[in-house]
Amino acid sequence: MKRARIVGTGMAVPECVVDNHLLSRCMNTSDEWIVQRTGIRERRVSPDTYRMLLRLAEAPDKVAFMDEVFAQGLDGKIDSTLTVSDLAFEASTMALKNAGVEPRQLDCIIDSSTVPDFAYPHTGCVLQGKFGLTSTPAICLQQGCAGFIFGLAVADQFIRGGIYERVLVVGAELLSSIFDYTDRGRDMAVLFADGAGAVVLQAVDSGESGLISHHLHTDGTILDGLSGEVWGTSTYPAISKKKIEEGRGRPRMNGRAVFVQAVRRFREVIGKCLGANRLTVADVDCFIFHQANIRIIEAVTDALKIPPEKTFNNVERYGNTAAASVPMALHEAVLAGRIKDGDLVLLAAFGTGFSWGASLLRW
Ligand code: ACO
Repeated sequence: MKRARIVGTGMAVPECVVDNHLLSRCMNTSDEWIVQRTGIRERRVSPDTYRMLLRLAEAPDKVAFMDEVFAQGLDGKIDSTLTVSDLAFEASTMALKNAGVEPRQLDCIIDSSTVPDFAYPHTGCVLQGKFGLTSTPAICLQQGCAGFIFGLAVADQFIRGGIYERVLVVGAELLSSIFDYTDRGRDMAVLFADGAGAVVLQAVDSGESGLISHHLHTDGTILDGLSGEVWGTSTYPAISKKKIEEGRGRPRMNGRAVFVQAVRRFREVIGKCLGANRLTVADVDCFIFHQANIRIIEAVTDALKIPPEKTFNNVERYGNTAAASVPMALHEAVLAGRIKDGDLVLLAAFGTGFSWGASLLRW
């Protein structure tokens, strides 16, 4: 039987860096508050968000300025200069180059993006078009921060089943485009940011290194923990002026509920993954967690007695990039020499849904 192996990784982030001090000039927050509770010092955002934040920082009435942006765009313009598929394309191009694989050699593309270029078609489809491919199947998974792990699991089944040989798995997000950067949205706006990560999976003979097992879960009974209605059919009509005026187009989060659930589910799924493979924490060389918040990661690693040197984190520099965070951290961990040939690596993520999962692989 064939096994799927990661043969190339890549990532992309916008050039614009936003530190906590710039956010403190836009809303009532501070570097100290953000660092203490999340570990985030800076994040990357699209040029549009960056320009908007510079203007918001100078605006005497922040709420009025933000409302004007929501109503009219920035300076009356609403076209984006960078979209989520642009970031997905850049990260994927790097992963393909590192793998030595041409786009036309791909049998399938699986993308996960919380906020797409278009409501439809999905971002995987837009990404496929940017490669100039005209019949390669493109799949999109709406799994929030757990999207990359779910994508790996789906791709792995295609490869193990002998259906496909080479699959591109991408997590890409342009989340800075949906937040309210005034006091009204400060609970979420300081956490999330933009970025993309990608891997190329290739079929190899079993017994070699590659993906070993996946453990996926969803609990759809706590929807108000983390949700966004945007154009959803939870309202009629799906898009209305009233919806926007009532702020229902914006994302919502119950931070404490997310924190408690995330720590619980990470612990459970990592335990399950280790148990299913008759392993202990000591057997794993590197743990890559979804980079939501350093406090969540520390609560999990403390509880499971995972030594800090067995984790790789970059949340301090990029914030929470949702579906992009695991492949971005994986890419940087490999580049930094923190993951070497033959290492056992455990990836774990938790996000909206709630959906969460873990993947075990031999590098
Ligand atoms: N700056 C300053 N104050 C803020 C900010 C901010 N950016 N955001 C919220 N606050 C205020 C709140 O309004 C609240 O004020 P109140 O007490 O007057 O009502 C107060 O801070 C809450 O403070 P704490 O109780 O100390 O906050 P807490 O320790 O719960 O930390 C946080 C909040 C960081 C959101 C935490 O709950 C958390 O990390 N939750 C997980 C959220 C997360 O990671 N979401 C990611 C999505 S899912 C995922 O990717 C796993």
